[in-house]
This record gives sequence, structure tokens and C-alpha cells, in this order.
Amino acid sequence: MLRQQRPEILDAADVPDHLARRAYRDLARIHWWLGDTASILREIRRDRLPVRRILDVGCGTGAVLKYIRGKLDVEVLGVDLNPRPGSVSILKADAVRDRLPCVDVAYSMHLGHHLSEPDLIALIRNVGRFSRRFLILDLVRHPLPLALFRLFVAPLVCRIVVVDGQTSIRRSYTPAELHRLTSEALRGSAGTFRQSVAPVYARQLIDISYAPLARGAI
Ligand SMILES: C[S@@+](CC[C@H](N)C(=O)[O-])C[C@H]1O[C@@H](n2cnc3c(N)ncnc32)[C@H](O)[C@@H]1O
Repeated sequence: MLRQQRPEILDAADVPDHLARRAYRDLARIHWWLGDTASILREIRRDRLPVRRILDVGCGTGAVLKYIRGKLDVEVLGVDLNPRPGSVSILKADAVRDRLPCVDVAYSMHLGHHLSEPDLIALIRNVGRFSRRFLILDLVRHPLPLALFRLFVAPLVCRIVVVDGQTSIRRSYTPAELHRLTSEALRGSAGTFRQSVAPVYARQLIDISYAPLARGAI
């Protein structure tokens, strides 16, 4: 399956707030059903160092962040290019280029596939200037999750998510591509990462540990 570059409906700033809120609520439910949120929580809980401050990069309305705040005793912040009003603190920022809040752990969910290869590399480098660890959770471009999405998820969610969900899978990176891009982003630094792919390609997760001394140099 060739990678598509078509934008998603939610990429447009003029989607009315009530429709965007409904779509992000459905997205948060999908993350919960599929175990995406649980896998981010698990990884944060496994951190060997204290985690006091967390950043959701590309957080939308912050619905997932709000859930995570309820589960962990941490300060939570979100950044988004196009922030939507929500009940957590969200800053407007381009995470690829702008200064970000300093945190212990940053994570992104379904952000990577919105970015071109050079921008995804730049994102990984930029986040490393403000965080010691970055969890990148994203979709996998493969016919199996596309078919499963159409069969089991699409009937339960709003129209925007039905359309954007399929575009997202077609736009996302294969595990081999994401591995290559992460290696490229960390080349020349002492940062390390591991990658895992869930059964039926439901998601992939890249867990990056930036090297403390090299962090400023990335
Ligand atoms: C598919 S939504 C995912 C929202 C949320 N993370 C979730 O999984 O429910 C992707 C989000 O990334 C944001 N985004 C895209 N490019 C960005 C960038 N360069 N910097 C910050 N946010 C960005 C979009 O505005 C959008 O809210």
C-alpha cells in the first residue's frame, strides 16, 4: 500500500468546534477500546525515573490527557497546532519547530502520520530538547487494520472519524519506515529507542530515550 498524503478533515481549522469535539471524543474512545491509552499509561508507569510532568504532543482537545491525569499523579500539559477548547491546559505550538514546555515524558498519539518524513525527523529532534523520553504511538499502514477499522470501528463513530480514520491508516508509516526515520533522527546522538507493533497491526509504539548530555545537541 503506497503512502497517501491527502489531508484529513480535522486538519482544517474551520471545522466547527462541536463537530471537532465529537470527533476527538470518538478518537479518545477508540484509543481506550484498542488499548492505546493503556499502553501509554503502562510505559509511563514503567519509567525508572520520577515522572512529574507529562506532555501530550498534538493533543487535540486533550481528551486522552484528561484520562491520563485521572490515572497518574502528575502534572499534564498539551500542545497542538490547532488547539481546541478542553479541560486541560493546552498551548498552541508547532511541535516540529517551536519551543515546548520542559517535561519528564512526552507522548504523541496519531500525530506522526500527519507529518512528512523530514518533519517527523525534526519533531523527534525537537521534542528531545524538552523531554528525556518520547513515546510515539501511531497507526500502521497495512490492509488488515484498514479492513478491521471499516468492519468494527466505523459503525460506532461519527462521520468525520470514519473518513479521517481510513485516511489516517493510508497516511501512516509502516514499522520499517518509522524505524528508519527514528534512527535517522537520533543519528549522531546517544539516544536510543525500541519499537513494538501490536497484534493485527492495531498500533506501533516507538519509545525514545534521549541521552541527557546529548539532548541539547540533537
Ligand atoms: C489525529 S489528531 C490526534 C489527536 C490526539 N492526539 C488523539 O490521538 O486523539 C492529530 C493532532 O495533531 C495536531 N498536529 C498536527 N501537526 C502538528 C504539529 N506540527 N504540532 C502540533 N500539533 C500538530 C493536529 O492539530 C491534531 O489535533
